[in-house]
Amino acid sequence: MYRSSSDVMMQIILFSRSSISLSCVSYHRRYSNMMPKWTDLEFLIRSHLHVKVLKNKLAPELPRYLDLARKELDYGWALDVPQPEDWTEVDIQHITRMLIARMSAKVFLGFPTCRNKKWLKVSIDYSIDAFTTAFILRMFPTWSHFIVAQLLPSRYRMKQEVRTAMQVVGSLIEKREDNARRRNRGEMVEDDEDTLMHWMLDNGTEEEIKLQEMATRQCVLTLASIHTTATNTANVLFDLCAHPEWFPVLREEISKVNSAIGSLDEQPETGVRRWHSKLEKLDSFLMETLRFNPPIILGPQRLALQSLTLRDGTHIEAGTKISFANYHHMHDPEVVPDPNTFDPMRSYRKRQASPEEHHRHQAWLTDINENLSFGYGNQACPGRFFAVAEVKMVIARFLDNFEFKFPEGKSRPLMKFADENSFIDPSARLLMRKRKVE
Ligand code: HEM
Repeated sequence: MYRSSSDVMMQIILFSRSSISLSCVSYHRRYSNMMPKWTDLEFLIRSHLHVKVLKNKLAPELPRYLDLARKELDYGWALDVPQPEDWTEVDIQHITRMLIARMSAKVFLGFPTCRNKKWLKVSIDYSIDAFTTAFILRMFPTWSHFIVAQLLPSRYRMKQEVRTAMQVVGSLIEKREDNARRRNRGEMVEDDEDTLMHWMLDNGTEEEIKLQEMATRQCVLTLASIHTTATNTANVLFDLCAHPEWFPVLREEISKVNSAIGSLDEQPETGVRRWHSKLEKLDSFLMETLRFNPPIILGPQRLALQSLTLRDGTHIEAGTKISFANYHHMHDPEVVPDPNTFDPMRSYRKRQASPEEHHRHQAWLTDINENLSFGYGNQACPGRFFAVAEVKMVIARFLDNFEFKFPEGKSRPLMKFADENSFIDPSARLLMRKRKVE
């Protein structure tokens, strides 16, 4: 058992596979880790509009949103990705963050906000400041939070970022209201862009659509969607450089899929989903990268709302925070054979076994014994379908166009941890150059 910071009943119990099946008990996860009182995130406890929009709008219309994201990737590529002829050191984490931030902004807030430098900066910086604030507070006892919170520069930056978000979101709301007024007067006005935020405005309660809450929620969505996906994309590249024998294998797959159904750029509207689902080896590689580098090493996390006793006699008091030891579980030899070997074709081999198996073992599918990187159960990551496609779009383009390797004397950067969250050493770099195709 690992006792975390301050809060009275903050016990994190590390369950092993024998003691609990998360699907058979009812837990409700709270956002307590983010120190909501001091990060202005208390509204997340009463309202899940940010989850509803992903389940009810993004998921059913995924092909269309993926296509919009792909077009924004085209635009960002020319701005964010250097085109060196010779080996050049690059901050690959920064590049992937920019590309993913643009794609997220396009689907959540639309054009021209996805090109707004102020918004792109907020969408990257807010997560860092929110996590920094929460992690520092978690090191101090609850009684001192009032004082410590006043001393944290990251908390003041967060507040400034929310103010900027309010300007950006506020002007989008005003434009939408103005369009509605003009339509009522019988003027011809273009349809509003079908963004995820517009769905939230149409479907939120009075409280949920208030400017401050909507703007903060957009920041929360950047926190959930950008660093996770960008880190994972960078991790795939770091793992490829550590195991360069897989470069030709993945390139061959991409080239075969492109020859068979057209490259990413040639996909017809809504074709991205079909295209990326054909990249089965890349999907398998991504799963192995996530198994070694999950964004969170204790998850899923839930809070017991009432006391209960599990089948094996373990008693859980109401208020206990429960966490599954996902990293440990995914490296248990009884669950994953030879778990410490990086074997990127594990799930690919399983998919080839039979037509039934072919539909299973995919990166976006959560599975208690295979894939906990996106959480589990009805509170599993609602953005995972989008995330997996984003990673594959970016990686396929990188592999098609560039070669990568570690700088002289460097190797795969070790993951760093802040409590249960993991991230890549920010100073890690890669060398890249344009691919010379004979
Ligand atoms: C590779 C990228 C990503 C990874 C590894 C990841 C992982 C996770 C994990 C582990 C959880 C907690 C699930 C649980 O407790 O069972 C989660 C929650 C969440 N994720 Fe993701 N995620 C990624 C990308 C995204 C994207 C792109 C979006 C949005 C489009 C998103 C939106 C969310 C939201 C809103 C939640 C909170 C769900 C809730 O409170 O019920 N994530 N994610």
